[in-house]
Amino acid sequence: MTSFTRSGPLVEGEWVRLTDPKGRKHNVQLEPGKEFSTKKGQIRHDDMLGQPEGIVIQSSLDHPYQVFRPLLFEYVVSMPRGAAIIYPKDAAQIVAQADIYPGARVVEAGAGSGSLTAYLLRAIGPTGTLGSYELREEFAENVRKNVHQVAGDDLPGWTLTVGDVRDAVTETEIDRLILDMVDPWTCIPLASERLVPGGIVCAYVATTTQLSLFVESIRADGGFTEPRAWETLERDWHLQGLAVRPQHSMNGHTAFLVTARRMAPGHRSMGTSRRPAPGAYGPDYKGPRPAGLELAEDD
Ligand SMILES: C[S@@+](CC[C@H](N)C(=O)[O-])C[C@H]1O[C@@H](n2cnc3c(N)ncnc32)[C@H](O)[C@@H]1O
Repeated sequence: MTSFTRSGPLVEGEWVRLTDPKGRKHNVQLEPGKEFSTKKGQIRHDDMLGQPEGIVIQSSLDHPYQVFRPLLFEYVVSMPRGAAIIYPKDAAQIVAQADIYPGARVVEAGAGSGSLTAYLLRAIGPTGTLGSYELREEFAENVRKNVHQVAGDDLPGWTLTVGDVRDAVTETEIDRLILDMVDPWTCIPLASERLVPGGIVCAYVATTTQLSLFVESIRADGGFTEPRAWETLERDWHLQGLAVRPQHSMNGHTAFLVTARRMAPGHRSMGTSRRPAPGAYGPDYKGPRPAGLELAEDD
């Protein structure tokens, strides 16, 4: 049984999330006989062990706490991290728009802290494979711990490799390639070589300069469909009686997502019939160029 599938009474060794009436949260790993200290008194683990989720328990100072197993999105935002994580709103977009399906053969780089890894593993299910690549050993160690904690130890379809994905990749047929690294355009040769026809490359990039370079490199390659880029904004709402309105603050920016599909061998992208804006690829533009938009000698 993995944390993805847990249900039934709370057992020794699993994590629960305690929430007090002010919304303050504590994550606790259950051990018989132990107590957890809060400013509002001691909480006995034995009061939770063997109980269902969704109970309210009292601390030694009679302060109430609601008890649930953490959901995946709650877990990934609070897990120990070295590298910045992909937040749940973007992980959900990747799963949906990069079409991660049960049984898919997926490769991701870099694995960072393992947030996206957990979502990908859940989406590919027991019949899929995920090859995760991470440059830095200390981050990879973090990924290993975080993923096993949330998904359990029985993950036969998952490999985590420490190394540069461009040199270390062993997968020869990839259905979905997900890139969360500073220079994803350097993986376009890898995508060309190893993505199956119809396969999807998806990049998560934090800045517009990275977005532009990735998109233009995809176009210049010619072996992918016209890329699509978007961002997702998430705004919480305040809900009380007649005071129903958006929250005043939100996370305004995480990153942009881009996807493109691999063409079949020998077939070039049709590109777009829309003419580029005047000057889009003029002399001031220094990046990669789509076929047919090369600069003339005298430009
Ligand atoms: C923003 S973090 C990834 C976060 C991760 N997707 C998550 O959700 O937790 C970017 C990671 O890419 C790794 N990286 C950068 N270039 C790489 C490469 N060529 N091959 C493998 N990993 C790479 C970095 O070491 C870093 O940990």
